[in-house]
Amino acid sequence: MVNEKVLVIDFGGQYNQLVARRVRECNVYCEIYSYKTPLEKIKAMNPKGIILTGGPNSVYEEGAPSCTKDLFEIGVPILGLCYGAQLIQHVLGGKVEKAIVREYGKIETEIDGSKDALFNGVSEKTTVWMSHNDYISKIGPGFEIIAHTLDCPVAAYQDTKRQLYGIQFHPEVLHTVQGKDILANFVKKICKCSGSWRMDSFVEESIKSIREKVGDGKVLLALSGGVDSSVAAALLSKAIGKQLTCVFVDHGLLRKDEGDEVEKVFGAGGMFDLNFVRVNAAKRYYDKLSGVTEPEKKRKIIGEEFIRVFEEEAKKIGAVDFLAQGTIYPDVVESGLGGESAVIKSHHNVGGLPDYVDFKEIIEPLRDLFKDEVRKAGLELGIPEYLVFRQPFPGPGLGVRIVGEVTEDKVRIVQDADYIYRSEIEAASNEYKKKHGEEPSWMPNQYFAALTNMRSVGVMGDERTYDYAVALRAVRTVDFMTAESARIPYEVLEKVMNRIVNEVKGVNRVFYDLTSKPPGTIEFE
Ligand code: XMP
Repeated sequence: MVNEKVLVIDFGGQYNQLVARRVRECNVYCEIYSYKTPLEKIKAMNPKGIILTGGPNSVYEEGAPSCTKDLFEIGVPILGLCYGAQLIQHVLGGKVEKAIVREYGKIETEIDGSKDALFNGVSEKTTVWMSHNDYISKIGPGFEIIAHTLDCPVAAYQDTKRQLYGIQFHPEVLHTVQGKDILANFVKKICKCSGSWRMDSFVEESIKSIREKVGDGKVLLALSGGVDSSVAAALLSKAIGKQLTCVFVDHGLLRKDEGDEVEKVFGAGGMFDLNFVRVNAAKRYYDKLSGVTEPEKKRKIIGEEFIRVFEEEAKKIGAVDFLAQGTIYPDVVESGLGGESAVIKSHHNVGGLPDYVDFKEIIEPLRDLFKDEVRKAGLELGIPEYLVFRQPFPGPGLGVRIVGEVTEDKVRIVQDADYIYRSEIEAASNEYKKKHGEEPSWMPNQYFAALTNMRSVGVMGDERTYDYAVALRAVRTVDFMTAESARIPYEVLEKVMNRIVNEVKGVNRVFYDLTSKPPGTIEFE
């Protein structure tokens, strides 16, 4: 599908997905592969260039991730980053040793060598991000040093004849001020990529290749209303129209009005040509969840019930040729199929694959895209912005935002409180944006209301109440693995509290959750 490709060979470093992101920001398509990938496979992919990533090991240790000399003889430009740079030297006659001074953080680097290739347009003295214990103490024959720092004699090197380049620092990290220029120089000037990878061409080419693959076959997709499955549905619909059936399971644990919003966009009379089946399974879920208080048990029930409902619908539809999924690139890498730095987040998917759906093959049209690329594709396909820029919403839905037993009444309370909270945050943020031209610094990356299982005495008018307490959660986070509570202005919180206790029946107290993650989690279950 894509004819210009750069390969990122993963040696286990923490920034490796970032390397791929930055390359794609240069409009050059790239994919991540483990260092264990056989050389024949690498050659068969016909890459325009290869980047060897960083990694936590020392190249000279026994059993450290490595590669053979042959990799450097396939005739395409290769750039090693950190561990990758050390590995090239280790294999090709240089020397790597434990550094006397460990460099970590922002360091000033001086460019000594020619600025024709990697450092074209880069300032003589530039700040870079270093993170290494080992250093290259001697370079192998044929190489020349092109940058150094106070403690690192070989901050970068090259051999323009063999087209081999290495940098000790991390150009993919934003702290490396001209990192993007350096990577762009590599993929465009050295690898000679044209930089024509764009979302509109992705959408166009995907539609073509889906048509070729599916032919006149039938495709079934579980649509959750989240960004990924919505974009997958839109793409498939543009490609094959009514050969696609989307099953949308409304488990009664969605945000306020969300089920209707999804139906409005994807259902009959909506924006897309497809068969849309909405299953209103709320009652079924509430029955199954009745009396269950243990969080993991609730999650399990919700996941299993999803599979059951989906299978029942699939049976009604009969055999299909393809089961479509909204898998995106970080899912592929994180499940250990792509790169080397695998983090498995099993709890992030509702229930896994349904066992008893009769299909021949899986189709994953977004498998090569990062989240923000999926969003761009969504906009390209005409999906409304409010759907494309939705905040993350967990598969088990409000089931993980109600502490204790889930009941229909509690779902109503949390939906209404959450709706008020989200509207007020959006209003306050829009007002700020109008005044200052940018988002407020407190703007959370995820925010929602949850229902605690605590009831306490209050007073409303002249009446004594004995009602629930709502918890407001808002976090600032980059990767959702760690987070801190967002510093939402007190006036906004006060307004939200006032509206919730006045407008939502069954609530007489509102708390703001200050807990960071760790020790808390982002969700509240
Ligand atoms: P926690 O609560 O683990 O959440 O700090 C981290 C991020 O993951 C989301 N999350 C889920 N997403 N299925 C999902 O699709 C799940 O079961 C699930 N649990 C948590 C959560 O919203 C947050 O963004």
